[in-house]
This record gives sequence, structure tokens and C-alpha cells, in this order.
Amino acid sequence: MEIFKTASDMREWSDSMHRAGQTISFVPTMGYLHDGHLSLMEKGASLCSALVVSIFVNPTQFGENEDLDAYPTDIERDLKLIKAKGARAVFLPDKKEIYPENYQTYITLEHLPKHLCGLSRPVHFRGVATIVSKLFNIVRPDAAVFGAKDFQQLQVIRQLNRDLNFGINIIGAPIVRESDGLAMSSRNAYLDPEQRDSALSLSRSCSQAEKMVKAGEKSANAIRSHIKSFIESFPDTRVDYISICDPDTLNEVEEIDTEVLFALAVQVGRARLIDNILIKP
Ligand code: PAF
Repeated sequence: MEIFKTASDMREWSDSMHRAGQTISFVPTMGYLHDGHLSLMEKGASLCSALVVSIFVNPTQFGENEDLDAYPTDIERDLKLIKAKGARAVFLPDKKEIYPENYQTYITLEHLPKHLCGLSRPVHFRGVATIVSKLFNIVRPDAAVFGAKDFQQLQVIRQLNRDLNFGINIIGAPIVRESDGLAMSSRNAYLDPEQRDSALSLSRSCSQAEKMVKAGEKSANAIRSHIKSFIESFPDTRVDYISICDPDTLNEVEEIDTEVLFALAVQVGRARLIDNILIKP
């Protein structure tokens, strides 16, 4: 497995692979890999002849007072896991390689970031759109795989891919959960045992919201307020948002008549966790 630290080495390798008739699938990560990331790699490996994984904790997608400095990392372990998944190359740049002195170009989307996580993380999707565009230009993949846990991120990247004509096949992969339902996340590492129990409030909220819709509840407000009280009954939780929205535009809905996205973000101790489910009435 090749490890590239510069954009030029990475791109040269990708270009030579394409010249040799190979196709490239790509899984960008911020490292500290868990089974969710590994499932993205399996999906990627099944799509193309060569899988590339990147590890880069992207500073521009963290706001001030967020957990950039605390973000967990274990590069040696990550590299072993990536190799075991059969990746052909890893892109492992440092911060200066991606954002050299006098860096000044950022990508912003007009509408999608004005919902859900974008409301309390105002610079987040600008940072995501910028790094993902740069990685697409460096790795030049034919397909790229992103987890559906970050549903809004997946929609932002689909939009970016269309708007900027990257022409990449963007694949959304299902959420991977622990056996008790908790969605896998690198940030679960912040939870102590009591907070780990409280974190179950997210996946349970998704199931409860689905049950309410299937039982005929049409009022999004009734569901939001029921779920808010439910989450607040768990210690050490603070609801950031509970959204019931159109899966494409992310606009909030009032009446549930067609498929909706139920999505939520909850601060549990020092971990900000997200989860979601698509629900058909
Ligand atoms: O989902 C993530 O881990 C990150 O947001 C991504 C896509 C690797 C960009 O930094």
C-alpha cells in the first residue's frame, strides 16, 4: 500500500493508474477509524479497481470552541486497518500541504448549509465543501463513498459534485450501528459509561419518531416536542436540533405526507452526536 503525503505525488499516482486503465474509488476520512469507516471502504473496494483512503483532520470545518484540538487520532492503527481492507493508496497530508501560507479560496453553498447542523456550526459546511473539492482534485476518483450518518454532508457533497461538474459517482452508505443501536462515530470515544447510556437517546428517538409516523401522526411539531422531552429525560443531554424535513431541500415540514428525514443533534457530555432516519408515512 502506497502512502502519499504531497498532493503532487498523490495526483501523479492517480493519473498513472487512470492511464493504465484502472478506476479509483475514494473514501475521505478524518482518521480514528471505526467499523462505519471500514464499511465505506468495503463499498469503495467493490466499485472500482483501486481504493484510495485519505486521513486528514480538516481544521476549516471546525468552529472556534469546537473539538479540533481534542479530535482523537491513531494513525498507526488506522493504516493497518486500511491495509487490511485492500486499499492501494493512502493520502496523508499535513495541514501545510492542504492550506499553505496565503491560502484564500473557500467554497460555500447557498441553501443546504442553512439547515440542521449548519445552524449551530456556521463554518462547518464551508470547510467540508472546500476540503472535499480539494481532495477530489488531488485524488481524481471515479467514485467516492460517504456515510449517511452525516446526511446533510452527503447532500452537500452531491450538490457540490453537480454544481462544480466533478462528474464523480457519489455513493451514500448506510449508517453502521453498535449492537444496541448507537450510531458509530469517532466522537463516541469522548463518552463515559453514563453518557454512553444517554447517547442511546438518539437512535431511540429515531425509532420512536418512525413509530409515531407509522401510527398515523402527521404533525411534525407533535413529534419534535415528544422527542425533545424524551431526550431531556436522559442525564447530561442538550438538544441542539430535532428536524423533520424534506430529504432533498432540508426545509422543515409541518405536515408529514411524503417521505421525510428525521434528523437530530444532541450534545452528550462533551460529544456532539448526530443520527437520522428516512421515514415514509
Ligand atoms: O465525514 C468526515 O469524516 C469529514 O467531514 C470529511 C468528509 C472527511 C471531510 O473532512
